[in-house]
Parts: sequence; structure tokens; C-alpha cells
Amino acid sequence: MLLVPTIVCVLVLGLASPVEIEAGSPLKVLGLFPHPGVSHFHFFYPIMRGLAEAGHDVSVVSHFPDKNPVAHYKDFPLSGIEKLTNTVDLKMFEKRTFYNHFVEFFLLHDWGKEACNFTLRSDALQQILKRKQGYFDVIIMEQFNTDCMMGVAHQLQAPVIALSSCVMMPWHYERMGAPIIPSYIPALFMAQSQDMDFGGRLANWFSFHALNWMYKLISTPVADAMVQYKFGHDVPSVGELAKNTSLFFVNQHFSLSGPKPLPPNVIELGGIHIQKAKGLPADLQRLLDNAEHGVILISWGSMIRANSLTTAKRDGIVRAAARLKQLVIWKWENDTLPNKPDNMHIMKWLPQRDILCHPNVKVFMTHAGLMGSSEAAYCGVPVVATPMYGDQFLNAAALVQRGMGTLLNFEDISENTVMRALKKTLDKSFADAARTVSYSFKHRPQQALQSALWWVEHVANTGGAPLLKPSAVEMSRFVYYSLDCYVVVGLLLTIIIGSWISLIQRICGSSSSKKTKKD
Ligand SMILES: *[C@@H]1O[C@H](CO)[C@@H](O)[C@H](O)[C@H]1NC(C)=O
Ligand SMILES: *[C@@H]1O[C@H](CO)[C@@H](O)[C@H](O)[C@H]1NC(C)=O
Ligand SMILES: *[C@@H]1O[C@H](CO)[C@@H](O)[C@H](O)[C@H]1NC(C)=O
Repeated sequence: MLLVPTIVCVLVLGLASPVEIEAGSPLKVLGLFPHPGVSHFHFFYPIMRGLAEAGHDVSVVSHFPDKNPVAHYKDFPLSGIEKLTNTVDLKMFEKRTFYNHFVEFFLLHDWGKEACNFTLRSDALQQILKRKQGYFDVIIMEQFNTDCMMGVAHQLQAPVIALSSCVMMPWHYERMGAPIIPSYIPALFMAQSQDMDFGGRLANWFSFHALNWMYKLISTPVADAMVQYKFGHDVPSVGELAKNTSLFFVNQHFSLSGPKPLPPNVIELGGIHIQKAKGLPADLQRLLDNAEHGVILISWGSMIRANSLTTAKRDGIVRAAARLKQLVIWKWENDTLPNKPDNMHIMKWLPQRDILCHPNVKVFMTHAGLMGSSEAAYCGVPVVATPMYGDQFLNAAALVQRGMGTLLNFEDISENTVMRALKKTLDKSFADAARTVSYSFKHRPQQALQSALWWVEHVANTGGAPLLKPSAVEMSRFVYYSLDCYVVVGLLLTIIIGSWISLIQRICGSSSSKKTKKD
């Protein structure tokens, strides 16, 4: 008797969700995050936690174990390597004569090598490798400065979803079959927006291709050596394994970094780390509510210690603040600040997102890290950007191009430059542009976290989303850009034009030689 309704139920449920192969069964998800930068993890964590909250079984190998994990979220902590938090000394940027992106490439390369070596030898990974092949339904990993973890994914035989906490690196495009168009897509390391002049485009073209090749020729072999030392010499090159990446989640959004041609296996999740407002502590709320002339927030993120500023620069900022009528809130790690004016409030730690979204906040002085830039875009706050390294120059250029930011070079910081930049950015046009960006940043067909969860389940349920993989991934770039066709058509045109020219020359030549005979 009971059987009939059960069968009906099963049939109805089966029909209701035809897409999902195993509707409802929790997935086993592995996260591999060997890079010790906490700002990167701020992008990964909401996805991993969101998966656990949705009922999936989540195992996370990272440097940042969750202090109060939700159910189904299990940490496999990497410990012992220096975490890149609050460790950047601003004095590093005082002499920036040759601190360009090629130097940065080698810095990233070294970090990648170290993180790879460390993770492959870690106890955390040994525990994960005890699982048999096919145990995990999907592996989510950071793809940044090394493809070392693709070797681990190969051992575990599970589909891979890549995460990038900044825009894609020059070496990430080919593996997803995405076009590199250096005429308007600025490379990560360039301080440019989509509007480039000829010099800018030439430099961008060169950087894109040079860095892509440097990665292939320098970073990939180093990762291969470590992976093959660990797992044996029959493991394919991680460069080949990287082409097996099913999906790429990238921390960008067109409203800020500009629209780009991305295949459907690259998903923009910019702003995923931004949570619902938590509510400010009462004293801070009162401070912000009562700031009748508005508030300027200065915060240079988690990696930079503000108290390592030189005295001249620190005094410049302090004196500029004293000349303003706005309230200035500064994330400052010391208890005291020499010559602190009355309209300045210092805090060692502050709830940046909630402060930024307060309607009285007029300008945000930032290092243009992607997290802070996204929060400014979300809350619609104009910025004075002082980029220092990595992708900050690119983010700053995007904020300026969108009309919601002013650039203030770190080496130029002084009372007058700070004053000028703040005055300019307090103009209404900046607030209007910021509001426009904010609207598009917030209003999406699906919120970033929902998109991420949907796609993770899709990749797991389709065994790696093979239909999403463009044939372009296996093509050489020579063929991909139709250069073979250009060569053949060029040759044909040369032959046709060449034979016409020689024909004309022969006719003219013979007629002129007749003439000379007559004479
Ligand atoms: C990896 O780490 C070990 C021990 O810390 C060290 O002896 C070895 O040289 C490192 N290998 C590479 C390739 O850096
Ligand atoms: C590529 O990924 C699929 C799963 O998505 C896996 O079955 C296959 O073995 C992988 N290929 C390599 C070379 O690891
Ligand atoms: C920060 O505080 C320490 C100790 O409290 C002090 O030695 C240092 O000079 C302070 N730095 C600045 C920039 O105020």
C-alpha cells in the first residue's frame, strides 16, 4: 500500500531535477590552498564554507584553519611557514627604482616553489593522500604562481575547479581556451586600465607574452620536478595537467575591471567575500552618524604596517588631515600617533566593509588591494588609491578609469599631495561614478555565492563538465589565433600579386625591347 506513493514521489522528484545526476547526495569536496597569503584566502573561504553550509563534506588544506567551523567543514592545517599577514614593511617601497613586474615575477616564482615544496611534504597532505582515487567528487584549488597542486589532483583523480583571488595571470588564459587580447585587456602586472595608448599597448603585449613564456619555461619545470620527486616520473607535466581544469572562478567583476571575452568555463565571482552588514559597534556607529562633514577612511589592508611609514610621509598625512573638516579614521597599528589632530581617530583594527557602507563615508584612502577595491565598488565610495605591489596598480587604474578614483603614488605622499588628492576625490562627480559602479556590482542575475555553489555541483555531477571545455585548450596558439590561415592567405596573395607583377614586367619589357629594336 505504501509502495505506490513512494514510487510516485521518486518519479516526481526524478522529473523535477533532471539536470542533477545524483540530486541531493552530499559531495565530497577538497580545497587545496598552499599559498600563505591571508588576503587570498578571504576569497576562497566563503566558497568552502558555503559548500559546507549547503550540506557538502568539505576538507580544506590551508594555512588558515577556521576557528569555529560549521558542520561538515574539516581543516587540514598547514603550519610552520611564515604567513604573509602584517609583514609588509613600507620601507620596501621607498626605493622603487627597479621594482617592476619582472622582479615581481621571480618573487612569485620563489613563493610558489616554497609553498609547493612545503605542502607536498606536509602531514596535512599525507592525510588527504590516504583517500583512495575517486574519493573526492571535486577538488577546488588556488591557481596562482604554481601548478604544483595539479599533481595532487592527478593522484586523486577528481575534476578540478581553479580559484584566482585576483584577475587571471597571463598564463591562465590558454588552459581555459580564453583569448589573450593585449590591445585592451591589461596584464595583471601592468598599471593600466582597458584604455591604453600605443606605448601602453606595446608594453602590455610584451608583458603578457613574456610572462606567459617565463611561466612555462621557468615555473612549470620547477613544479614538475617537485611533483615527480613526490609521485614518480610517470606523472605528466603539471602544464599538461593544468589543461584539465574544468572551471575557473575569478575574483573580478566587469563593473570594476571592465568587460572581457570569457568562455563559459570562466566565472566572475568578484565581491563574493562581502557579507551582509553585521552592524557597527555602538561607539563607532555614533562617531560615524555624528560626522556632519563626512568621513575619510584610511586603511592599507592587512599586509602593510602603517607604522612603518617614514616620519615625513606620516606627518604629511597627519598635517593634511588637520586641515580638513571631515572626520578621518585611520587604521593605525600603534597605540599612539604623534601630533594626532582632533578630527582624527585611530584604530588598530576596523570593520572596513561596514564602515565603507555607512552613508557618511566620502572617501576611502586605500592601497587598492582587490578586497578593499571591491568593497569600495560595492558600497559606492570614491577612493584615493596608493598601490604598492602586485595587482594593486591594476585595480587602481580600473578605479581611475571608472571615474571613482584618484591615484596618489606612494613615493609622492606629502601634505600637499594628500590634500590635493582628497580635495579632488571629494568632488561630486566621483561620488556619482561610484554609485553607478555600485549598482552594477550589486545587481546580478544570481549572487556570487549562489553561482559558485551551482557551478561546483554542476562540475561534480557531470564528472568535470566536459561539455564546457573548448577545443581551443588543446590547440597551439599559432592555430588558435588563425596564424596558419594568415600565413597561407599571405603566401597566396604574394604569389598572385608576384605573378601579376612579373607578367606585367615581361609584357612591358618585351614591348620596350621591340621599341629598341625598331630604333
Ligand atoms: C624542499 O624542502 C626541503 C626541506 O625543507 C629542502 O631540503 C629541499 O631542498 C627543498 N627542495 C626544493 C626544490 O626547494
Ligand atoms: C582529467 O580530469 C578527469 C576528471 O575530470 C580525469 O578523469 C582525468 O584522469 C584527468 N586527466 C589527467 C591527465 O589527470
Ligand atoms: C609604535 O610603538 C612602539 C612601541 O610602543 C614605538 O617604539 C614606535 O616608535 C611607535 N611607532 C610610531 C610610528 O609611532
